[in-house]
Amino acid sequence: MTAQSHQQMDNDDKSLMDFEPSSGNSRELRNALGRFGTGVTIVTAAKNGVPYGITVNSFASVSLDPALVLWSPAKASKRFDLFESTEHYAIHVLDQEQTDLASLFARQADNFDHCSWHWSDNGVPVIENTVTRFECERICSHDGGDHAIVIGKVSRVVSTGGDPLMFVGGQFGRFVSAT
Ligand SMILES: Cc1cc2nc3c(=O)[nH]c(=O)nc-3n(C[C@H](O)[C@H](O)[C@H](O)COP(=O)(O)O)c2cc1C
Repeated sequence: MTAQSHQQMDNDDKSLMDFEPSSGNSRELRNALGRFGTGVTIVTAAKNGVPYGITVNSFASVSLDPALVLWSPAKASKRFDLFESTEHYAIHVLDQEQTDLASLFARQADNFDHCSWHWSDNGVPVIENTVTRFECERICSHDGGDHAIVIGKVSRVVSTGGDPLMFVGGQFGRFVSAT
């Protein structure tokens, strides 16, 4: 195959999108945003002694010193009020073997029978054997359209290693080094 025909094939494989985001094409916007690969996390918190979790890929680092991270709960979620206002929570970076856990906590908040977990000193349910866990204290929440942007100060990091689960184009996958 010549370099030219290879280039042609690459171009054919990519479907062209060119649009201005509006309420009528949020599916197309979601698809475009979905081309940005992320890791997958589960955010956990408790209310009245009951543990809750939610699968989240909006997690991002914000600041190293102080140690700040963010994530974005959707206002339409039944879990929004709990997770937007909770003082203490934990963000767990999932391992590539934990797709089942990601799917379970996407469907419903109460899945702690399906994993090993314990209570942290701050009264947060923490899931064991994830790649990394960030225990956080809520700093503030900003309006972000149909989501909120919750910023937390990291009070503790627990890292057990492993290979992180990835999420691209609506599918779970694995990271492969490009070098
Ligand atoms: C990979 C993945 C990433 C997600 N990321 C977010 C997120 O960043 N914020 C959010 O509010 N919901 C996110 N969700 C959706 C929630 O996990 C959950 O499905 C949604 O809150 C369901 O609505 P409910 O809380 O009303 O049951 C994600 C789901 C998946 C599978």
